[in-house]
Amino acid sequence: MTPFDHRKYRPSPVLAMPARQWPDRTVQQAPIWASVDLRDGNQALLEPMGPAQKRRLWQLLVRLGVKEIEVGFPAASVPDFDFVRRLIEEGQIPADVTIQVLVQAREDLIRRTFEALDGAPRAIVHLYNSTSPVQRDWVFGSDREGVKAIAVQGARWVREAAARYPDTRWTFQYSPESFTATEPDYALEVCEAVIDEWQPTPGHRAIINLPATVEVASPNRFADQVEWFATHISRRDSLILSVHTHNDRGGAVAAAELALLAGADRVEGTLLGNGERTGNMDLVTLAMNLYSQGIDPGLDLSHPDEILTVVGECTGIVTHPRHPWVGELVYTAFSGSHQDAIRKCLKRQDAQTPWQVAYLPIDPMDLGRTYQEVVRVNSQSGKGGVAFIMERDFGLNLPRWLQVELAQLVQRESERLGGEVEGAGIERLFREHFVRDQGPRRLLGYRLIRNGHDHIEVRLGDGAGQHTLRGEGQGAIAAFVSAWVGFAGQRVQVLDYQEHAIGEGTDAEAAAYVLLNIDGARVAGAAIDRDVVGASLKAVLSALNRVVPEAVPQEGRVRQAEAA
Ligand code: KIV
Ligand code: ZN
Repeated sequence: MTPFDHRKYRPSPVLAMPARQWPDRTVQQAPIWASVDLRDGNQALLEPMGPAQKRRLWQLLVRLGVKEIEVGFPAASVPDFDFVRRLIEEGQIPADVTIQVLVQAREDLIRRTFEALDGAPRAIVHLYNSTSPVQRDWVFGSDREGVKAIAVQGARWVREAAARYPDTRWTFQYSPESFTATEPDYALEVCEAVIDEWQPTPGHRAIINLPATVEVASPNRFADQVEWFATHISRRDSLILSVHTHNDRGGAVAAAELALLAGADRVEGTLLGNGERTGNMDLVTLAMNLYSQGIDPGLDLSHPDEILTVVGECTGIVTHPRHPWVGELVYTAFSGSHQDAIRKCLKRQDAQTPWQVAYLPIDPMDLGRTYQEVVRVNSQSGKGGVAFIMERDFGLNLPRWLQVELAQLVQRESERLGGEVEGAGIERLFREHFVRDQGPRRLLGYRLIRNGHDHIEVRLGDGAGQHTLRGEGQGAIAAFVSAWVGFAGQRVQVLDYQEHAIGEGTDAEAAAYVLLNIDGARVAGAAIDRDVVGASLKAVLSALNRVVPEAVPQEGRVRQAEAA
């Protein structure tokens, strides 16, 4: 039998909740955010943070606006104890921030925890013990009553210790660890017993924190457990209901978000989701989820690159480039159809209308990202991305037929390079292939007489010398083409022509694009010049130069043109 055998596992029990309310609710406001970066996150690191790294992460959390920060497990770790002492003694805790510390239900540890907090203006003491059957039976060799007694005794020691430090405003927090794997009625019974010990009031609430210590079921099941708990616990108005989800199944954020619908007031998590095993709930993702729904997240996430840097340098964990909302590549489109849609939407989006841009759930500018990063071109990209970059970076609005041809060149280049072609590379290809007015023939000068029907005299130079061509037609281009036809003996027809100014003001240049049929072949040309007529004549010449006639025309073949 193969070791990969699903029969080893059982589905997690389903709580019957036919009258569940949460699916019909929507989140209306941000929860109370609580960071556990410096405790749960730190505990999970191969190399835990030193004091300087902890300090840097603490300062970041404060700058972002997190108001409740679990700073360690001071009774279990000397560095954590010292860190808490330093925050207090150096006055590092802003008036609107409360530190939180974790402790097990053991008298000596509780005593030491309060010593660590001595002098703190406010603090949350977070007591926990494991309540699930496997923990009761196999880890502690105890039973329901025994495990409840541990919680109650712990709560009593916490209350008694707090009374010895009356200058601090204490908040008590209790977590039935492994809540999601605990029978709901038993988790409720333990929490009720703890609350009885603490006697919270609406004016001085206790925190009950429901952890998905290990994520064992889908987020809807967690929401059911939270709603069941929230609707059965007594003294609900004296409690802050908190959730603490882990990401074993990849659903930590979803579980926390649904838990908000189910009645949670507070969410614990870490920046970018560092934490035990697959991590804690990612505060940044959940906050951005709310932001993207028009809800003020109450956190300043406008500089996510700073978060990526600080978290990366403090934890040694590099954030994936496709991390929700803040990864390096999450506002970048490589696919041609996506680029095309983004380009069209960005053109129409204005500051007054609510944001609606295809493939961009939020405006990347909100996070300090630029539109430069939105479209990047590789072999998967089509004309949309190429057009976007030519317009955005070089002010050139290429006609569709030119976009198509340039995109093919870019694709070949990308395949040759084995990756991205940057803006400068795209522009180089454009100039090399389409802006060909310098050879083999160059425009030396022209004279245009406009009187309804235009007459033109064009001077061209090539390896054989100078040539003066004369022609006439409706407009400068038609006149030049007629002159050329007489000069070179080719069949030339203008299929399309477009022009525009590049930039504004008196020194704006003109760009011109022309699509010719030359002896049955479609040939595009482009040019940029100080004036529109110069640009259009050069664009025609660029196309003509791309199809060099076998020989320079001889004097005898010239009909309307004269050698100079
Ligand atoms: O995951 C967990 O259960 C914890 C508790 C201590 C809250 O981190
Ligand atoms: Zn945890």
